Amino acid sequence: MTIRDEMKKRRTFAIISHPDAGKTTITEKMLLFGNLIRSAGTVKGKKSGKFATSDWMEIEKQRGISVTSSVMNFPYKDYQVNILDTPGHEDFSEDTYRTLTAVDSVVMVIDATKGIEAQTLKLFKVCKMRGIPIFTFINKMDREGREPLELMEEIESTLNIETYPMTWPAGMGKRFLGVFDRHNEQFVQYTGNEEETYIPYDELENHKELTEDATYQEAEDEMLLVDEAGDGFDLEKVMKGDQTPVFFGSALAPFGVETFFNTFIDFAPEPAPRRSTEGIVSPDQEEFSGFIFKIQANMNPQHRDRIAFVRICSGKFERGMNVTLSRTGKTFKLAQSQQFVASSRGTVEEGYAGDIIGIYDPNIYRIGDTIVTGKQNFEYDELPQFPPELFKKVTAKNVMKSKQFKKGLEQLVQEGAIQLFKRYRFEDYIIGAVGELQYEVFEYRMKNEYNVEVELTSIGERIPRWIAEEQVDESMFDERNMLAVDREGFPLVLFKNDFSLRWFKDKHEDIELIDLFEVN
Ligand code: G4P
Repeated sequence: MTIRDEMKKRRTFAIISHPDAGKTTITEKMLLFGNLIRSAGTVKGKKSGKFATSDWMEIEKQRGISVTSSVMNFPYKDYQVNILDTPGHEDFSEDTYRTLTAVDSVVMVIDATKGIEAQTLKLFKVCKMRGIPIFTFINKMDREGREPLELMEEIESTLNIETYPMTWPAGMGKRFLGVFDRHNEQFVQYTGNEEETYIPYDELENHKELTEDATYQEAEDEMLLVDEAGDGFDLEKVMKGDQTPVFFGSALAPFGVETFFNTFIDFAPEPAPRRSTEGIVSPDQEEFSGFIFKIQANMNPQHRDRIAFVRICSGKFERGMNVTLSRTGKTFKLAQSQQFVASSRGTVEEGYAGDIIGIYDPNIYRIGDTIVTGKQNFEYDELPQFPPELFKKVTAKNVMKSKQFKKGLEQLVQEGAIQLFKRYRFEDYIIGAVGELQYEVFEYRMKNEYNVEVELTSIGERIPRWIAEEQVDESMFDERNMLAVDREGFPLVLFKNDFSLRWFKDKHEDIELIDLFEVN
């Protein structure tokens, strides 16, 4: 098979949802389709006390969660599927955002009884802004949920995206009869068994017990309404992230997941060309290239190794190949590489655009780094920085350890585990994160990897805004609106809240406050 054929088979996506919406359950069903696992409950046993071996850190075991996004890959039909896991909610971190830079599409799972929830909205907004195609699965139709039309309206208004129901549910909860599969023109009947029964539209007349049911008729009327009043399916819009195909089902039953997965996998985009400093790089070009979107340390506590996660963007990866790190121009041999499955890590021999590989990192890579082969020399677009929301002052409990403290801090910042700031003209370190978990991980790793116990003092949620050096007037700032500098030494203000920000703007109209982050 040519590089192009291999690339075209790749489907690389993330499943995002609010905790408990059913992401794990759906992921498991997909892994079952891919014959990757034989029984449910393998991916994550958060309540049963069983832990997947991908949960590499003690902290993960304590909390029963997957801190670091893991990657699962398996063949399905004619495709090669790569699922990138993204932790959500309080387990949310910058890693979650960055994972989205490595996928070609996302599946958004929504709990039908709840609709769109706050933390999830942030993730969806990032997808929307980056123009990532979003496919929606509305889960838990076996429960009494909210009206499908209402849920669609909510998605449209909160995400500013058109919806196109690929399937339409007939009833819900105890009255759930199944879904109209508009794409394949069939009714998928919910029997309560694992098997789904498919009735082509033109055979429905032979199923009077179904078609004469009041719930069925009501759903059919609704669907006609959607047909007439709703937007038509528009793949081009889907690819731009302007329309989301919506599917209904129940991951637990399971029902509708297979219908969803089969349609999704056909429509989901293959790896796209990417922008670089030397122009657009095509995924099917001969030469290999990729970028690092995540660095994870200490996956195996015995070995203290760091693994850099590479999203392959072009060409063919082969184990043992020589690559050049564009930032430094240095060449390395990629002898140790790994691919990730739900519960084990195996060596990977080759990979193509869309695949994610883990490479051994002897402390040379940075998040956002590009690696290339041959005569190429370019860098992919910088990864966006995401605004930290929680800020804490950090010191070493033992002042004698300041050397290790600085080393640990520097390395963890370089890895992207945390963002670092300093008080303006002071040596006080302030760290920023998007979620509380990042601090827990930081504290744990400083202790376990650098042998430094840290003291964290919260300065609460803050809104960072940059300011030009020549406009800095220290008398304008205090603890509430704290003046700081970023890693590069550029001044910024950490505003206490929206109100202080607005108040400051009104009072100092001449001062330009710059928001450097892509997402807010
Ligand atoms: P998450 O990864 O998004 O956090 O969700 P997860 O799949 O763990 O599902 C959260 C809870 O919702 C689980 O129940 C799961 O069994 C249930 N669930 C998932 N899909 C469906 C569905 O389609 N219908 C119904 N009724 N429930 C669903 P739990 O009791 O919290 O956990 P567990 O003890 O079953 O693991």
